[in-house]
Amino acid sequence: MAQRCYVVGNWKMHGMRADLSEARAIDRASLRLPKVEVAIAPPATLIATLRETVTQIGVGAQNCHRSEKGAHTGDISAPMLREAGADFVIVGHSERRADHGETNDDVKAKAEAAQAVDLGVILCVGESEEQRDSGEAEEIVARQLADCLPASAQRLSVAYEPIWAIGTGRVPSVQDVGTMHKWLRAVLMDRYGDEGKEIRILYGGSVKGDNAAELLSVPEVGGALVGGASLTADGFVPIIAAAS
Ligand code: G3P
Repeated sequence: MAQRCYVVGNWKMHGMRADLSEARAIDRASLRLPKVEVAIAPPATLIATLRETVTQIGVGAQNCHRSEKGAHTGDISAPMLREAGADFVIVGHSERRADHGETNDDVKAKAEAAQAVDLGVILCVGESEEQRDSGEAEEIVARQLADCLPASAQRLSVAYEPIWAIGTGRVPSVQDVGTMHKWLRAVLMDRYGDEGKEIRILYGGSVKGDNAAELLSVPEVGGALVGGASLTADGFVPIIAAAS
């Protein structure tokens, strides 16, 4: 069965209780757009409240620790996120790799920790501007993905987010997105066989209402991971509608 397009809002370090009115409006709008699977990953402080606030959309986390529990001050484990009401977790976002020194090995371990408690996983990969300019972006990102993949494909999605496109208003050409997604599909099939065909590969990086339809029409693009434009219903609903 063909999977629904998956449109996920990554709220990053934005979102106070007052912002839940936006999530409620997004939730109401997605009732009218049932062809799209919609989710929001708020800051961890809002996961439980958001879970109780929405009825249509998924709720996720932006990170988890690789261990189930232990002496890790300030960290949150996958079982804790699950208990708080998360359905999935984003792992390997470039901001976490840059700000917290997360390695491919960490990302793989986090994905496996999430799968162990049946959380969905959105595993992020992407190249820097220098790597894009080197003409080897596809090889580099394919290798990065291969190094991060968990042993199982259970509830796994991948997000291709070129670092230079995040929050900049710049997006790769549809040809470049298509080429990269084909490479990533090949890595997934090489690793998981036929199961790799079903894994949704999202595009992320400056997705907005006015470019979403074009990006989502690229073969092998199975959805979008959206930052800034997902913070308000006015920004996010047009993207969901474009995916419908
Ligand atoms: O994870 C989403 C992301 O990094 C893209 O952010 O603000 O460019 O949509 P933005």
